[in-house]
Amino acid sequence: KIRSANKAALELLGYTEAEMKGMRLPDLFGKIPEFSEQEHYTGEELAKLRSSIIKQKQFLTKSGRINPASVSCSVLKSEKDGTEGLIIVGHDLTEQYDIENKLDHLRKERLIAINEAQEEERIRIATDLHDGLGQMLTAISYAIQEFGGESDNEEEIKPEVTASIQKQIDAAIREAKSIAHDLIPIVLKDFGLIVAIENLIRKANELYDTKFQFNAFDFNERIDPKLEKALYRICQESVNNIIKHARAKNAMFQILRQNQAIVLVIEDDGGGFDPEFKGKDTNNAGIGLISMKERVIAFDGTFTINSSPDFGTEIIIEIPCRKS
Ligand SMILES: Nc1ncnc2c1ncn2[C@@H]1O[C@H](COP(=O)(O)OP(=O)(O)O)[C@@H](O)[C@H]1O
Ligand SMILES: [Mg+2]
Repeated sequence: KIRSANKAALELLGYTEAEMKGMRLPDLFGKIPEFSEQEHYTGEELAKLRSSIIKQKQFLTKSGRINPASVSCSVLKSEKDGTEGLIIVGHDLTEQYDIENKLDHLRKERLIAINEAQEEERIRIATDLHDGLGQMLTAISYAIQEFGGESDNEEEIKPEVTASIQKQIDAAIREAKSIAHDLIPIVLKDFGLIVAIENLIRKANELYDTKFQFNAFDFNERIDPKLEKALYRICQESVNNIIKHARAKNAMFQILRQNQAIVLVIEDDGGGFDPEFKGKDTNNAGIGLISMKERVIAFDGTFTINSSPDFGTEIIIEIPCRKS
């Protein structure tokens, strides 16, 4: 039976102190295993009751509402006569749950918006490829067929024809580059760096065994779009490298905004490599790390790689960028 309750508990549950006194635990929590109507419990029984109370996830108010709660409980022993009782402390989580539900809803809506943006983006790229690049290559193909049919030897190919084909090929290359450039996701443009990286990390987690994590600290404002692109590309290349080379269990991406700088730290616990060696071995060195470094230097930043077989790889990038 309940002997006393503090004011907060009375307010929360909606009872007066008089009403509360003498109520039973199931009146507050619903059914509790280990609870019985007996007046006195042994210490052992109380301990069992306690462990079943702390598992409670909700309580009932006088008006019949069921509120989510976290419950803690300790066994008390009176010094005078040794009688034992329980003191129960509960936290009402209704408000927290409401907020979480709202956030969940917002997240879902954002996810839908992102998916729609991506779908639009795909359609646009497909159109660019088909109507733009595809048409250009078709035109080039026709041009080559034409003079190929007329002439059996090279001398007959008119310089104007080769010049024109050359021009068309150049245009096609430009078009290909511009499409590739556009592959920077719309998400980055519309939703900003953090959402774009979140998206990248989510996809990596869906597709690969490495557990990717991403944290952003103090990063609420948008920054220079060029810098957003550069940082996104760096993350993208790092995801690729971790998948391709690291054989890591975990990878952690962290970005934080300080007053004077942006810091991006990318760690994995994979096999590592010798950054010195890769730098020298030009045949083997890929373009990924080099272009990462180039991008960072272009923004007056610093680029550091630490890598070893025991600890995996860590890339630390710091780029000066004042908070507006
Ligand atoms: N996270 C990593 N873990 C282990 N090795 C890596 C990692 N990142 C890069 N490397 C090594 O550095 C080399 C150069 O990487 P990169 O410049 O991106 O070129 P590529 O990925 O095309 O090989 C890789 O071939 C690989 O051996
Ligand atoms: Mg690479």
